[in-house]
Amino acid sequence: MQKNRRIESEQAMLEFGQALAPILLPGDVLALTGDLGAGKTTLSRGIIQKLCGDIEVPSPTYTLVQTYDLGEFELWHCDLYRLKHALEVEELGLFDAMEDAVCLIEWPERMEGLLPDNALTIRIGFDGNGRRITWQGNAIWQERLNDV
Ligand SMILES: Nc1ncnc2c1ncn2[C@@H]1O[C@H](COP(=O)(O)OP(=O)(O)O)[C@@H](O)[C@H]1O
Ligand SMILES: [Mg+2]
Repeated sequence: MQKNRRIESEQAMLEFGQALAPILLPGDVLALTGDLGAGKTTLSRGIIQKLCGDIEVPSPTYTLVQTYDLGEFELWHCDLYRLKHALEVEELGLFDAMEDAVCLIEWPERMEGLLPDNALTIRIGFDGNGRRITWQGNAIWQERLNDV
């Protein structure tokens, strides 16, 4: 996957998520950063619908966490915007989840310093009417993302 690519529409964002979904493994943490309305939830929706079928994927704005049972492991979709304190992450059970679930985390800045070193950061920026995605991850991620 190119480290920097333009995603021109909501549909393209869903498709990008769908393309990313099959490579995800338990223990993966995706830190999705970008301003309000950037497309973090849309990208998560693409990933989740690819793995769970065409279900409704609400934004976990108020619940902070929405979990999905994928059979062999869980997927956690988190929106930490309303996190009051970084230590709340422990109460949510997110530390345990980051070890054996796939975790998609919107507003990861809220738990800065508590993310695992092997997290993949996906940054979404506005680019005209579309969006631009850049990602940052370790060498293992680079290898795994080659085919996306
Ligand atoms: N690549 C894109 N190009 C244009 N619009 C997009 C793109 N991705 C998402 N959107 C739109 O941006 C809006 C906000 O998306 P959302 O995923 O809720 O953002 P966030 O979770 O980052 O706040 C939605 O209306 C969605 O359709
Ligand atoms: Mg969102």
